[in-house]
Amino acid sequence: MTQRRILVTAALPYANGHIHIGHLVEYIQTDIWVRFQKLRGHKCVFICADDTHGTAIMIRARQEGRSEEALIADMREAHIRDFAGFDIEFDNYGSTNSEANRELCHEIWAALRKNGYITEQSVTQLYDPKAGTFLADRFVKGTCPKCQAENQYGDNCEKCGSTYSPADLINPTSTLSGATPELRSANHLFVSIEKLHGFLEEWTQSGEHLQSEVANYLKGHFLGEPLRDWDVSRPAPYFGFEISDSPGNFWYVWFDAPIGYMASTKEWCQKHGENFDDWWRDDKSQFSDLKSEIHHFIGKDITYFHTLFWPAMLKASGFNLPAKVHIHGFLTVGGEKMSKSKGTFVQAATYLKHLDPAYLRYYYASKLGPRLDDLDLSLDEFVDKANKQLVGGVVNIASRTAKFLGGKSLCETYPADGGLFLFAAAAHESIAEAYERCDYQAVIRTCKELCDRANTFLDEKAPWTLAKQPDKAEEVRQICSIGLNLFRQIVVYLAPVLPRLVQQAGELLGAPITRWEDAQSPLTGTPVANFQHMLKRVELKQVQSMIDDSKPAELLTWVEPPETSAPAAQSPDGPEALEKEPLVADLCSIDDFTKIDLRVARVVSASHVEGADKLVQLTLSLGGELRRNVFAGIKSAYTPELLVGRLVIVVANLAPRKMRFGVSEGMVCAAGGGGQEIFLLSPDSGAVPGQRVH
Ligand code: MSP
Ligand code: ZN
Repeated sequence: MTQRRILVTAALPYANGHIHIGHLVEYIQTDIWVRFQKLRGHKCVFICADDTHGTAIMIRARQEGRSEEALIADMREAHIRDFAGFDIEFDNYGSTNSEANRELCHEIWAALRKNGYITEQSVTQLYDPKAGTFLADRFVKGTCPKCQAENQYGDNCEKCGSTYSPADLINPTSTLSGATPELRSANHLFVSIEKLHGFLEEWTQSGEHLQSEVANYLKGHFLGEPLRDWDVSRPAPYFGFEISDSPGNFWYVWFDAPIGYMASTKEWCQKHGENFDDWWRDDKSQFSDLKSEIHHFIGKDITYFHTLFWPAMLKASGFNLPAKVHIHGFLTVGGEKMSKSKGTFVQAATYLKHLDPAYLRYYYASKLGPRLDDLDLSLDEFVDKANKQLVGGVVNIASRTAKFLGGKSLCETYPADGGLFLFAAAAHESIAEAYERCDYQAVIRTCKELCDRANTFLDEKAPWTLAKQPDKAEEVRQICSIGLNLFRQIVVYLAPVLPRLVQQAGELLGAPITRWEDAQSPLTGTPVANFQHMLKRVELKQVQSMIDDSKPAELLTWVEPPETSAPAAQSPDGPEALEKEPLVADLCSIDDFTKIDLRVARVVSASHVEGADKLVQLTLSLGGELRRNVFAGIKSAYTPELLVGRLVIVVANLAPRKMRFGVSEGMVCAAGGGGQEIFLLSPDSGAVPGQRVH
C-alpha cells in the first residue's frame, strides 16, 4: 500500500461560544477519520483553530467589559480542554488571530488583487449611531415588512418566512443599544467569483470532490445563474485584520477563517520541520510526485463557503484545491432541535461531568453515514447502545475471559476456533472501505456482528463452568485465548472510535495495538494482566442529571415582590448581616439547601450608585443573553473597576427586591466581616457563567 499525505481539517469553532454536543458530531467524525488514516500507516495531519474575528466577538467583549484578546484567550483554553476530554486529538490547534494567519491573508489578498479579482462598491447598511458600528443583520430587530409580525430579525421573518434587507424593516431598532439605526454608505471590497464560474462548475460537478447531494444543490441553487460578487470587507470598528491597501477596512471574518486552516498548518510545519508548500502548494513542493490530499470536514450550514468561495479563492491565488469536502448533517435531540430550555443544548463540559466520552463517540459513529442526513440523539437509545453493544457486547468479551487468564499467558499456538478469527480477519477490507467513505454506521454494524459471533462462542463453551473443574484448566486457557484474540481484533477495528479501549486492550494483553494489520494475526504467548475494569454501564438517571444540569436557572419566572424602601444599609448583601453570625448556623436539610440556586456569573459592568455609601450596582451575565441587575453592599472593599470581568457566585433564585435605587435581582456571595474585609467568592478559572454550583 502506498503511503498517502493527508491533511485533514474540521471547521474552526467560533470563539464566542462553548463547544456543545452538536459541534461534537463533527469533531468526533473527523477525529475518527484521522485516527483511521494514521492506523493505516498514512501520513496524516489533523488541523484546527479557533475562529476569533467578527462583530459577535467584538460585541460580546464590549458587553463583558474586556478586550477581545482576553475573551478569545479564555475561550481557546476552554475549547482545548473540551476537545481533549473527548479524545479529539489535533496535531495543531491554532487561532485565526495569529501572525501566521495575518501574513497568509495578505499574501492571498495580494494575489487576488494582482489577478484582477477585487472590485470596490458602495454598500448602504444600517448603522447604530449610539454603539458607533454598522449592524450585521442579526443585530437589528423590527416589524416584518410583509406580514407585520413584530420583533423579527433583520434578514428574515420567523412568522411568514420571507427574507428581506434590514433596511426594509418597519421601526428597526439596534439590539446593541436600542437606538434607531440610520442608513449609511461605505465602500466595500468584493471578490468577483463569477470569473471562476467555469472552473467552479467543473470542480463541483466532477463527482470527485463532493457528495452527490451537495453537487446537485450547488447546481440547482447557485451555478445556474451568474455568481454574485462576494463582499469581503467591513468598515471599522471591526475585530479582525486591517486590509493593508485599504486603511479603515477589515477583512470579513469569513475571508480570514478558512485561511486559518493554512495558518494552523504553517504553525505545525514550523514545529515539525515540515515544508508548508508540500501540503498547500504542490507545484512548488519538493515532493511533487507525492500529491498531498486536503480533506475538509464541515456541517451542512457552511456548505457554500467551503464549496464555492473557498475553492475560488484557492484557485485564484494558486494554492491546492481540496481533494474532498465531507459534509455532515445536524444533530437533533429526541427528534427536535437542541433546546436550551429543555436542557438538550448540552455543553461538552457538562456532558463530561456526568458521562464517559466513549459512549458518545460510539453512539455518533453508529449514527453517522456518508450522506448529509441529520442525526438524532435519542437518550434511551444512547443508554441502550452503551450498555448492550459497547459494555455488554465488546467489553464483555474481555471481562468474561480475561479473569481466567490473569497472571498467565495466551496459548503458545492459537487454538482451533472453527474459523472465527479468519472470518473476522477477512472483514478488514470492507471495514476499511467503510471508514474511508465515512460510513461509520456500516463499520459499527459489522463489528457488532463480530461481537455477536464471539459472544455466542463463549456462551456455548462457558469457560466459567469449566473453570470449576481442575482438569479442564488447559481447555479454559484455550477458550479464553480465543476470546481475547477475537476481542483484540474487534478493538483494532474500533480503534479509531474508542482510543481509550485500545490503550486498555494493549495493557491487558501485553502488546500495544498500533497498526490496522494487528487484526490479521492472533497474539500468542503474551502475558495477560489482571483484568481491570474498562467501561461502566450507564444509568438513565446519569443522562437525566446531565439534562437537568443543562437547563437554565428558572430566572425569569419570579413574582414581583412587595415594595419595600429598604435603605442601603439594610441591603441583603450588607456586611452587617454577616457580622453577628453564630459560629455554625442551625442545621438545614439537603432539600432546603438545594432550593438555593447558586450560579457562576460574570460581572459585565459595575458602577457607583449615586446616594448610596455601601452599594455597587452590578450587571451580571449568567451565560448567553441572560443578564441580572444586582446591588451589592461591597463598595467599601471593591471599586467598580476591580469588578468588571471577574467571575462571582450569585444566588440566582433569590426573590427580587425593590430598593431605593432599583430592583436587585440576586445576591453575590462574599465572606468577611465588612469594611475592607469583604472577600468575594469566585470559582476557579474554567468555570462558565450560568453553571450551577453544587
Ligand atoms: N466558525 C465557523 C466555521 C469556520 S471554518 C473556516 C462555524 N463555527 S461553529 O462553531 O458555528 O460551527 C463549527 C462546526 O460545527 C460547523 O461545521 C457546524 O456545522 C458544526 N455544528 C454546529 N452545530 C451543529 C449541530 N447542532 N449539529 C452538527 N454540527 C453542528 O461555523
Ligand atoms: Zn413576516
